[in-house]
Amino acid sequence: MSKAFETIVILDFGSQYTQLIARRIREVGVYCEIHPFNVGMDTLRGVHPKGIILSGGPSSVYEDGAPHCDRQILELGVPVLGICYGLQLLSYFLGGRVEPSSRREYGAATVNLTGEREQSRLLAGLSDGFPVWMSHGDHVTVAPPGFEVVATTENALGAVEAPQRGWYGLQFHPEVAHTPDGRLILSNFVRGICECQGDWSAASFIDAAVARIRQQIGEGHAVCGLSGGVDSSVAAALVSRAIGDRLTCLFVDNGLLRKDEFSKVLKAFREYGKLNVKGIAAGERFLGALKGVEDPERKRKIIGTTFIDVFQEEANRLGQIDFLVQGTLYPDVIESQSVKGPSAVIKSHHNVGGLPEKMHLRLVEPLRELFKDEVRQVGRELGLPAPLIDRQPFPGPGLAIRIPGAIEPDDLLLLQESDNIVMEEIRNSGLYGELWQSFAVLLPIRTVGVMGDQRTYERVIAVRAVKSVDGMTADWARLPYEVLETISRRIVSEVRGVNRVVYDISSKPPSTIEWE
Ligand code: XMP
Repeated sequence: MSKAFETIVILDFGSQYTQLIARRIREVGVYCEIHPFNVGMDTLRGVHPKGIILSGGPSSVYEDGAPHCDRQILELGVPVLGICYGLQLLSYFLGGRVEPSSRREYGAATVNLTGEREQSRLLAGLSDGFPVWMSHGDHVTVAPPGFEVVATTENALGAVEAPQRGWYGLQFHPEVAHTPDGRLILSNFVRGICECQGDWSAASFIDAAVARIRQQIGEGHAVCGLSGGVDSSVAAALVSRAIGDRLTCLFVDNGLLRKDEFSKVLKAFREYGKLNVKGIAAGERFLGALKGVEDPERKRKIIGTTFIDVFQEEANRLGQIDFLVQGTLYPDVIESQSVKGPSAVIKSHHNVGGLPEKMHLRLVEPLRELFKDEVRQVGRELGLPAPLIDRQPFPGPGLAIRIPGAIEPDDLLLLQESDNIVMEEIRNSGLYGELWQSFAVLLPIRTVGVMGDQRTYERVIAVRAVKSVDGMTADWARLPYEVLETISRRIVSEVRGVNRVVYDISSKPPSTIEWE
């Protein structure tokens, strides 16, 4: 991608905010890439960066094994901005002084400009006394020779610059929401100082991606497994724009989808009209394989291998296929190249894992550079229907992991009906878009109830609704009591076989979002 777009490189020193820097820069219309701090100079030169940002990080520049990038980045002749640890490293390289703060500075602070506002290119347009977010143990106490201190906080210097050399530094974090003017500062750097024109947009990405896909696939044929979710839909729509009917999309009904999901999603794809989609009804096959299986991981495995078998059989029927399209996103790519080593998080949602090798398929991953919000923009630009773009995530194993223990076909119906009520009421309340996920879980127990004059002994539904940015951590949603009340009343009165509804008030960690 870097050849097609003006590119800013972010060197990652291990800050939890590195991805946020990238997102903020893309938001101002400039493409950027995250590389590990120790990226080789040849790789870096190959990217032709218009500027380099050194991220924050948890280390101290003097400590043994502290991450240092190659000093030669300062000789590339492009502007460099150090943020927090990045600034400390610049100071260390260039002869400033870095010292431990008397106490770790964490939280809100106010930054005062030292000189005339117009003098600073980095802080152009900001008012004196702007609020920022600090998070550091060490700080720079003496700026390196040739640098001017353009802003200070109560305890430390806030921003320094050496404009003739193109070197800039911030002690605070411009990328976080708690620094309201942070986006302007980053924009000043990438669009002002680095002179990027801002050529990154959903439309320009689509043009570049389509050209690249055509080049990769040539006259070949590709297949894509649709899940009904946004990533696979957008990946398929992009590839379809590039190679038309030489892409076939397979949408498998595993019998574990939400109520009417298979028909609704197929209808949405058909209405979109630009995808060659084949629906495969394989519910009985999946449920047969799952019969009597209680262990969550075994359930997942069986669903995964059955999916691969079904997918492979269908793909074989299509004749010669050379490529498999996958909706891999940038956070997965960054994670796999992270200097911190492979992530401890186990991602089990690669539903077609193992297929490429088995079928000798090459991968096409057109969304590898994109964050989730960018994928949604690209989807909108491609004209995909809103319900596909704005859908909450839904796990590959579907309702199977929302029925703890063995799955009875009748249980699936109970869950589908209850879940459908949850979704209707969440949508009616206008909260759907604010929630990462909202759904029902059918518990494997019965409780006593009373309905009319009758004693009942029936099942329990747990309602789960969470807020999250990426699914890695999540907070249980404080749903209004009225919404919970309606959901509970409707489930108990409309779903025969359920006499109790409970609300899950656990966050992740220590719980997970799904119950299995
Ligand atoms: P947990 O339950 O681990 O879920 O907190 C985090 C996110 O991942 C989804 N999830 C899955 N997605 N296959 C998938 O495709 C799976 O096996 C799977 N398990 C969990 C879950 O819905 C949530 O968004």
